[in-house]
Amino acid sequence: MSLKSRSLVSINDFTKEEQLQVLELAQSFEKNPVQDILKEKVVATLFFEPSTRTRLSFESAVSRLGGKIIGVSDVTSSSLQKGESFRDTIKTISNYSDLIVIRHPKEGSARFASEVSSVPVINAGDGANQHPTQTLLDLFTINQTQGKLDELNVAFVGDLKYGRTVHSLVMALCNFSCTFHFVSPVELKLPDSVKFHIKERKQKYFEYTKIEDVIKKVDILYMTRIQKERFSDPIEYEKIKNSYVLKNDMLEDTKENLRILHPMPRVNEISEDVDDSIKAYYFQQAMNGVYVRQALMSLILGVK
Ligand code: CP
Repeated sequence: MSLKSRSLVSINDFTKEEQLQVLELAQSFEKNPVQDILKEKVVATLFFEPSTRTRLSFESAVSRLGGKIIGVSDVTSSSLQKGESFRDTIKTISNYSDLIVIRHPKEGSARFASEVSSVPVINAGDGANQHPTQTLLDLFTINQTQGKLDELNVAFVGDLKYGRTVHSLVMALCNFSCTFHFVSPVELKLPDSVKFHIKERKQKYFEYTKIEDVIKKVDILYMTRIQKERFSDPIEYEKIKNSYVLKNDMLEDTKENLRILHPMPRVNEISEDVDDSIKAYYFQQAMNGVYVRQALMSLILGVK
């Protein structure tokens, strides 16, 4: 099925084949990222939560393809501040643009936006729920570093409860027969709904509380930040905020093909002394966001 005019809210909105179609096209944008194919198109970026990589890589992707950007990156500058409803805001902006990219702190807000918008909507992160475009760039990066997506041992470390990038990537990797290793404080374990999905897809997973228990056996170490903004009780955050700090000496005797990914931003869960290791791949991962988002938008806008 064509991706033209489709919204992407959950990673499961696209089949495995459709996800692979995006990744394949992204490879061609990696080779040739400047093209004039979005000349007639206007993309609206609505970010009701802070962002560096997602918003700016979307905007860079559109700019390099000759399109125009309109947007909101500060909620106080829109008429929501005057009491306008979210529904009216989305309906209005969909009349000004060909595609809406939205990040919002509430789970379900991107789905709601896609239902009231007259143009496709891409979810750039909705609360603790999903971050499907991050997943596509994570898959692209895993394939780039490992030469394959299947039969890998993948460890996820940190905030697995609220980590939306973890939820959507785990769901996508269930298509590829990977073995999952989940490392988290007990308070931040992977939600049952995601575990249910893994079991339903007959994949294997194991749970741990220490990085040391997994680091030597995995191909991908996907670090995540303990997200202060998701805690209602600041004392709880203070208790567990430094649960994991990856240091360069911990990489000794790890697999040669191990690559460390992180959706970023990091706070202190990866020490800067790791950055010079060949196994550190998080900055390249963020760069891949431009190519993958170029591919995704080109397909949804029907120019590829
Ligand atoms: N990975 C990610 O979503 O980063 P930003 O919050 O900077 O967009």
